[in-house]
Amino acid sequence: MSRKPIIVGNWKMNKLQKDAVEFMQGVEAHLTGDEAADFGIAAPFTCLNACVANAKHLIVAAENCNAKDSGAYTGEVSVPMLEEIGITYCIIGHSERRTYYAETNEACAAKAKRLFASNIVPILCIGETEAQYDAGETAAVLKEELKGSLEGLSADEVSRMVIAYEPIWAIGTGKSADQTIAQDCCALVRKTVEELYDADTAAKVRIQYGGSVKPTNIKEYMACADIDGALIGGASLKVDSFLEIIDAVR
Ligand code: 13P
Repeated sequence: MSRKPIIVGNWKMNKLQKDAVEFMQGVEAHLTGDEAADFGIAAPFTCLNACVANAKHLIVAAENCNAKDSGAYTGEVSVPMLEEIGITYCIIGHSERRTYYAETNEACAAKAKRLFASNIVPILCIGETEAQYDAGETAAVLKEELKGSLEGLSADEVSRMVIAYEPIWAIGTGKSADQTIAQDCCALVRKTVEELYDADTAAKVRIQYGGSVKPTNIKEYMACADIDGALIGGASLKVDSFLEIIDAVR
């Protein structure tokens, strides 16, 4: 089973539109139409239009969405709104949203279902805290997050989605998970998808590692059998470092 690698930068709450345009143009200048991997960025809502307008080969993803189509939900952005401007991927369940905005597995499942209805691919984030890791609870946490966040999705949908394993202790800390931990956890994610669905679905779903990925360690992760790409925060903010990552993946 060959899965196309997928590398996505997550800008989080960074960049004004002019910075976004500069980044898109800077990276696009180095991409061709036949890359062996998918490359993309997830941008704040205010930058999405500008990113789409300047995207030739890069995927443009949103960082969040609401599962409802419309209504009295002040400050929220719906999937039809993302669809209207040409968004094709959307992060759901990032640990920062789970921690600061109480995003639950149930909410992730509803968002994923709604995204698929608009043909937008969810990038579902899961991962354990440092305390859970130290207590040996990683496998239980990952299984529970997967079970809850995939609830109601069909095998076909899950086979098309992206799941990002992001240990919370590795996010923004510079303390990246070593190759063995990242591979073992991504293998566990795949095994869990097989248990919840079937072997074919597990073989197709693309699994990313995220947490202090840099130009200097990306190759280690890409060499792992169950890691199909990366979700990258800090190192995706500058054109140069993102291009170094792209070159390393090539
Ligand atoms: P860093 O790459 O900055 O650790 O962030 C990872 C992340 O949260 C990507 O979603």
